Amino acid sequence: MSRNVVITGANRGIGRAMVQAFAEAGDNLWACARKPSVEFEKDMAELAASAGVSIQPVYFDLLDEADVQRGMQRILQEKRPLDVLINNAGIPHGGLMMMTPLKTLREVYQVNVFAQVQMMQLAGRQMMRQKRGCVINICSAGGIEAEPGYLAYGSSKAALAWITRMAAKEWGAYGIRVNGIAPGLIDTDMGAYKPDGEREKMLKRMSIQRAGRPEEVASAALYIASDQAAFMTGHILVLDGGRV
Ligand SMILES: NC(=O)c1ccc[n+]([C@@H]2O[C@H](COP(=O)([O-])OP(=O)(O)OC[C@H]3O[C@@H](n4cnc5c(N)ncnc54)[C@H](OP(=O)(O)O)[C@@H]3O)[C@@H](O)[C@H]2O)c1
Repeated sequence: MSRNVVITGANRGIGRAMVQAFAEAGDNLWACARKPSVEFEKDMAELAASAGVSIQPVYFDLLDEADVQRGMQRILQEKRPLDVLINNAGIPHGGLMMMTPLKTLREVYQVNVFAQVQMMQLAGRQMMRQKRGCVINICSAGGIEAEPGYLAYGSSKAALAWITRMAAKEWGAYGIRVNGIAPGLIDTDMGAYKPDGEREKMLKRMSIQRAGRPEEVASAALYIASDQAAFMTGHILVLDGGRV
């Protein structure tokens, strides 16, 4: 049976790969991006046509609480069941603690933590009414290890993993499963965002000495959203080629 799935950060990277994977599995999607673009609309329309599903672009900026509210309202007012929420959009930030202004920390937390909680609250209310649902938060291996130079990003992703496990406990009684995926180095624009020599250092530490592919993260999300993972909740699936 086809599901209704919300994916944020759908325009590129891991989010784009997940839109494709879920569409090809026959699911209908709300593909959320920060702002409209002709290329994105065209891409989504072509994907929808080739997979024979509905993919509706929805636009909102996770930096703006009111905008997130409006975007989710637009989804919820369709009064279709919301089966899966994938909180994928996120921002990186590298910088030593002494070089990280609180303003930057707040901005990273707004996107990687507060907006994710807001999305969960808005979707969770509907899922509670339905008495079923599945939330997948895209965390990070960087939120498990305490690495120097990653105060903002690492701690924000650590918070998201904690929130994921806690929400699984609060929402289990409503039939809602809440899990996370903690990718390591994945070949996207964000994966390329590394200080000099950092990528090579990471690759050397990994059992599988290559960056992961966005499609490999999408496959994990497909599994978590499936009935095959019906007993999985409160779990953070590490997908890092054997690094952590
Ligand atoms: N790639 C990796 O190595 C890696 C490793 C661990 C975890 N992750 C996590 O995986 C997730 C996806 O990352 P990715 O590698 O696919 O990164 P990416 O290619 O940089 O894509 C990030 C996505 O997030 C969206 N986004 C960022 N800020 C936003 C905002 N304020 N409002 C709405 N959307 C916003 C971006 O939209 P725009 O195009 O408008 O900027 C883009 O769609 C992130 O949560 C990231 O932390 C990635």
